[in-house]
Amino acid sequence: MQQGPIGIFDSGVGGTSIWREINRLLPSENSIYLADSKNAPYGEKSASEIIQLSAKNADLLIEKGCKLIVVACNTATTNAIDYLRENYPLPFIGIEPAIKPAALNSKSKTIGVLATKGTLTSELFSKTAKDHAANIKVVEQEGKGLVSLIESGAINDKATEDILKSYLKPMIAADIDHLVLGCTHYPYLIPILRKLLPEQVRIIDCGEAVARQTKKVLQENNLLNTSAAAVKHQFYSNNNPEILSYFLKDLETAIEVEYLDF
Ligand code: DGL
Repeated sequence: MQQGPIGIFDSGVGGTSIWREINRLLPSENSIYLADSKNAPYGEKSASEIIQLSAKNADLLIEKGCKLIVVACNTATTNAIDYLRENYPLPFIGIEPAIKPAALNSKSKTIGVLATKGTLTSELFSKTAKDHAANIKVVEQEGKGLVSLIESGAINDKATEDILKSYLKPMIAADIDHLVLGCTHYPYLIPILRKLLPEQVRIIDCGEAVARQTKKVLQENNLLNTSAAAVKHQFYSNNNPEILSYFLKDLETAIEVEYLDF
């Protein structure tokens, strides 16, 4: 079981931002990544559809022998993590917008959250906001259209920059000093966001925290891989493997992406 891979899934390429952090912290771990690009964006779907898709991804990862699953998608975590934890026997790690550290460190007492509709309307998101940002103004913005643009590889396009500019405008006007990235696709937009945001605004992305939590849970369950065998990473996309490869092309070790119908 210790040699079994870590399973990671997202609605597409965004979860690779989480895979990178996990691979950096846990280089001896094997992994299987599922990009459910055929069904992206999840953020426009109902909670029950997101649960169904998440269960489908979990079933496949379990069938492939995964020992733990990282839900590398805020939308899937905020809508489906309770279902997954209740219905499957293995550990699940999730990711949700990091409102808590942003609220704790905010001096202007105003933070921005950029996330999908599915995340912003979820019960888990409202609970987290209520628990950790009750005395803080939270400027929420749905990142409508961003996931589709990123899935088409348009991270440096003028259209993407223009949309972001309009989404950031009310946040900047409200004097946010932290911007929480509530979608795992968005870290790929950090270079443009940096250009558009005032210098003092901190961008909060919790990929590293997810990797640390993954390590902790593996340790607690005695699941860390101690084998000396070569590490293997398998990446599958059910729509556009070329796009997934594009998001991995800067990595030192060449990664092969396969098409898989799931
Ligand atoms: N990466 C997903 C997230 O973190 C994107 C969701 C979507 O497909 O809309 O929310």
